[in-house]
Amino acid sequence: MGSKKERISCAPVKGMRDVFPNEMAIRNWLFSEWKTVSQTFGFEEYDSAIVESEALYVRKAGDDITKELYNFADKGNRMVALRPEMTPTLARMIMAQGNALPLPARWFSIPQCFRYQRMQKGRKREHFQWNMDIVGLSSTIAEAELMAAQYMFLKRVGFVVDGDEPQILFRVSNRLVLESYLADLNITGDDFSKTCINIDKRDKIGDDATKKLLVEQGIEEPRAQKILDLLSITGLDELCTFVGESNQGYQSLLELMEHAQSFGISNVITIDLSVVRGLSYYTGTVWELFDTAGSLPRAIAGGGRYDNLLESLGGNPTPMVGFGFGDVVITLLLEEKGLIPKRKAIATDIVYPMSSKEFSLANKLAQTLREKGDNVLVDYTTRRFKAVIKTAEKHGATTVWIIGPQERENNVVRKKTMGGSQEEISLSSILL
Ligand code: HAM
Repeated sequence: MGSKKERISCAPVKGMRDVFPNEMAIRNWLFSEWKTVSQTFGFEEYDSAIVESEALYVRKAGDDITKELYNFADKGNRMVALRPEMTPTLARMIMAQGNALPLPARWFSIPQCFRYQRMQKGRKREHFQWNMDIVGLSSTIAEAELMAAQYMFLKRVGFVVDGDEPQILFRVSNRLVLESYLADLNITGDDFSKTCINIDKRDKIGDDATKKLLVEQGIEEPRAQKILDLLSITGLDELCTFVGESNQGYQSLLELMEHAQSFGISNVITIDLSVVRGLSYYTGTVWELFDTAGSLPRAIAGGGRYDNLLESLGGNPTPMVGFGFGDVVITLLLEEKGLIPKRKAIATDIVYPMSSKEFSLANKLAQTLREKGDNVLVDYTTRRFKAVIKTAEKHGATTVWIIGPQERENNVVRKKTMGGSQEEISLSSILL
């Protein structure tokens, strides 16, 4: 006698999401918007496998992303990880193409990423991330173009992006400002990267706790305070007064704002030195995108310039810049703002054979309609008509085709338009 198995949990692994059909429809719509925007800017799509070499993520600065790796030894004893982000994979793939790749290259991808993070609203252990990156352009016109693409996506899906009260804001900084400022405080190299990772936490933990982290890192209180002073600077004018006009980071931000103007997006950009980003590979512009209503204190997206990453992996020095735009926060915001479009019909047509004797005819009719391009569901339940109408409503169908014994005998079908009239049509005039 077989013993009954214990019922397993229906829940997915903690932090992972099941995607039910209604949610899948939303995901497909979101991804198609991302793809369309990328393509309108002339970007090419790429992808890779989810499992990567762990070595790709080992960084001296102690990035959180490395601590959050889903890593393991595979059966061949290779240390691998589920990718936490796409950027190192992109760098590896660009390196693999070497000189064969004409630059600049504009590539986009929508990878699934895994991070063993503490779960919070807007943060899961698995998410999809729209990435657009430009390889081989050192001008900040590249940054401006990428922001313009993000802007275009938000506009397409219904965010208010212009006027006096836009619903989005790019907070932008440049690590060169911080780099030269910290160099004056004798903080350079790996210490600089470590400092960036620590001060990136300021938004979440506040000034005092950040100062504590800096002191623990070996930067004594007066220097730590000086760093915090820089982070409270907003606007180009204030920045110029603070670091001087010749500062390279300031010049770069100035230039970026000019380019942004040419894209018509400068109204949604603010210079904010508190934006640092928690990834050590960024070398220049860094930015984060926020919803101004601020019901979710999380960035919608983040990006930056990382001109040394390829070199640090053993490749040729190559300027690179890009962004990652997750699916979790934007979906929450779109739901909150009522911007998720109504789901498209699952089936435009329902064919209803009243008994199994009409199945063959129903299949023939369905096939003819499918070949015309309609989405057709044949309801084989032989339930009462009322139930069929319910199915039609649920599927968003506009037409129900009824074939009963009488219709079969007379070689006709009754065509019912949902919410409208019925007519009898000769099957030979429809069937192929
Ligand atoms: P990131 O800021 O770590 O940057 O992630 C980018 C975006 O991915 C975030 O703004 C957020 O939308 C989403 N995201 C990240 N972690 C999670 C999570 N645990 N749950 C839900 N969403 C999440 C990067 O990953 C860089 N590689 C982006 C980049 C591309 N920089 C240059 N090119």
